[in-house]
Amino acid sequence: MKKKPSRTASPGSPSERWPTVAVAGGEFERADEAAKYVFGQTRLRPKIALVLGSGLGAFADEFEDAVKIPYATIPHFPQSTAIGHAGKLVIGKVDGIPVAGMQGRVHLYEGYSPKEIVFPIRVFARMGVKALILTNAAGGIKREFTQGRLVVISDHINLQGANPLVGPNDERFGPRFSDMSYAYDRRFREMTVGEGNRMGLGVSEGVYAALSGPSFETPAEIRYLRGIGADLVGMSTVPEVITACHCGIRVLGISCVTNAAAGILDQPLKHEEVLETGERVKGQFISLLKAVLPGIAESIAAIGDSGVFGGVS
Ligand code: HPA
Repeated sequence: MKKKPSRTASPGSPSERWPTVAVAGGEFERADEAAKYVFGQTRLRPKIALVLGSGLGAFADEFEDAVKIPYATIPHFPQSTAIGHAGKLVIGKVDGIPVAGMQGRVHLYEGYSPKEIVFPIRVFARMGVKALILTNAAGGIKREFTQGRLVVISDHINLQGANPLVGPNDERFGPRFSDMSYAYDRRFREMTVGEGNRMGLGVSEGVYAALSGPSFETPAEIRYLRGIGADLVGMSTVPEVITACHCGIRVLGISCVTNAAAGILDQPLKHEEVLETGERVKGQFISLLKAVLPGIAESIAAIGDSGVFGGVS
């Protein structure tokens, strides 16, 4: 596991397992520094951000009037090591709507701390983002969630053994105990299912279980997950959702079912299959995102900017 020079916690503490610069505090100031840097690269002030999972980064290549900012140049931003993640923040417009698109994210399985994983979400909060669209690849547990289906996440089960809000709470981001009753915005969910069905994509809703990975699940684990109410399984998204809720950002989550979960079909799981299915469904996924953006923009239009970095207060 990599070591960071400014790590401050004592050996044996949780942050020893997940070496991080974030545990000592100052996260708010770091997020402001990153937001300031991003605002220095573009005149656009997006209110909607998208996290584009494996393969879906291509959507951000379609943004108009775009500026592409490598994660490596943004202060304190984590760098993705996952295949298929370009590692750029693209600020541009989709049909005239300003958006910020992350081409790839970092995961717990790469060795990043929960706080590092969610740093970009906190930067979005400081940029004044009000709606976050999270996309991912997932294994289908529910039988009808076959390869290639797009599923709107209705709720989640966090089995990652980690929560990004553990540690001192900075009230400037949000409250100590944040409500997760409506983590996935109902209006956004309805709009996306509606648009998806209008487009003939057969989009429905499901509960996403997040595990740390990187190994795929065992068939017994999938039977267990089905028993506790999970319809989909994956290795991302949940830390970002928890953080967005904490910061008051409304969330839409959409999974692309890239494979039947372990044990459902009598065949081994391969990452290549995940990438191939993602590639095959990419066009539909992008069309669905484009279809829901105007409705999302409209539903957040009335929310003000007070307290945001560089915002009107
Ligand atoms: N399990 C966990 N994560 C995944 C899967 C899976 O089957 N498919 C895509 N991401």
